[in-house]
Amino acid sequence: MKSIIEGKNIILCVCGGIAAYKSVELLRLFQKAGADVNVVMTGNAEHFVGSMTFEAISGHPVFKGMYGGHPDADMRHIVWAEEADAVVIAPATANIIGKLANGIADDAMTTLMLAVTAPKIVCPSMNTNMYENRVVQRNLDTLEGDGFIIVDPGEGELACGAVGAGRLPEPDYIFDRVANIFFSKDFKDRKVVVSAGPTREAIDPVRFVSNPSSGKMGYAVAKAAADRGADVILVSGPTALKAPFGVSRIDVVTAGEMADAVFEQMDHADIIIKVAAVSDYTPSEKADHKIKKGESGISITMERTVDILAELGKRKKHQFLVGFAAETQNLKENAVDKLNRKNLDMIAGNLVGDPLSGFNADTNKINLFYKDGSMEELPVMDKDSAAHVLLDRIVSRIMTTNTEQKL
Ligand code: PMT
Repeated sequence: MKSIIEGKNIILCVCGGIAAYKSVELLRLFQKAGADVNVVMTGNAEHFVGSMTFEAISGHPVFKGMYGGHPDADMRHIVWAEEADAVVIAPATANIIGKLANGIADDAMTTLMLAVTAPKIVCPSMNTNMYENRVVQRNLDTLEGDGFIIVDPGEGELACGAVGAGRLPEPDYIFDRVANIFFSKDFKDRKVVVSAGPTREAIDPVRFVSNPSSGKMGYAVAKAAADRGADVILVSGPTALKAPFGVSRIDVVTAGEMADAVFEQMDHADIIIKVAAVSDYTPSEKADHKIKKGESGISITMERTVDILAELGKRKKHQFLVGFAAETQNLKENAVDKLNRKNLDMIAGNLVGDPLSGFNADTNKINLFYKDGSMEELPVMDKDSAAHVLLDRIVSRIMTTNTEQKL
């Protein structure tokens, strides 16, 4: 998918903190996504990472001082500020936060920041006691009130040995947070429930029945919806994936747990998208202890799990209900059958067992089927793109069908 960051002009401001090394990776991520990045450094930042590193990677001179050194240094704070699509300060020290909150402009970075009208993202990073200091918190509140976007620091062991809040989030997280501001917010004020990943049905404490779902497709849908402004609840089976920025995740293991979680969220949901690969059967008996191997084989009696989607279809009121159909053959017939049988508004059929589509692939080939009988065949695309196309279609269906919802 073409990154939403492509072609954007980003200013990366680097302050003097131990986490400054992470800014190099952040710069690289922006560049890989096709952004043009200009770097501004405070004098203290150079004690941690040399400006040559940023110059070499960004391909532009670093803005460090208001005077001398560069022919247009005296106007760069205005020119760069006017051209910026977004400015991100990472790491942001207590010092820069205090200066920005009080309108101080005594160096290149603070002077430029006063001239910026584009979105400004501040990523605090410092010792926990410093971060929790009332003055710093008050300054952060002031910045938030002034329209700055504050990215909360992570918790953990800090370079100073303290354990607590103050870690600069990982570069990919900050990248996503910056990218988020460029998406249209056409799902704003909508609650979207997405299910993703596999479920596991225990045979005994060390064995289970499951499937190869990685969660990639469902997580892509949840991320896309959150990027577009939705309030997203992701009900996830066991996966190795991190919850995307802005998504509330409910972790479940079994089909029964997934059913409980989804039903609990359903009344408040506007749109429900069931991407999860739910086990259709569960062992009737779960052994309390590991089943010991013997000479002969064993038989396991399985019973049906609840069909969550079919139940949602029965109970649905205003919700727009979307299912996925994973098929190995007869995609259209099987998908349309599920669409009608489960009372869905739309179903995304995908063939599994193809390296470019379905389980664990980074791409998917989806055919969309609608309850009015129409269908659309999409080309192979990465799962992020497929997720956005799916959401595009949901928006246009909600807008054009006679439902209580209007986006
Ligand atoms: O996670 P990835 O590795 O990225 O793979 C993505 C995917 C292949 C899992 C995904 O694209 C997909 O096809 N998901 C649906 C998988 C599936 O269970 O399909 P199904 O045809 O068995 O079920 C049809 C629908 O009913 C699905 O929306 C499913 O969530 C739902 N269902 C099924 C059984 C059940 N007991 N309860 C359900 O809600």
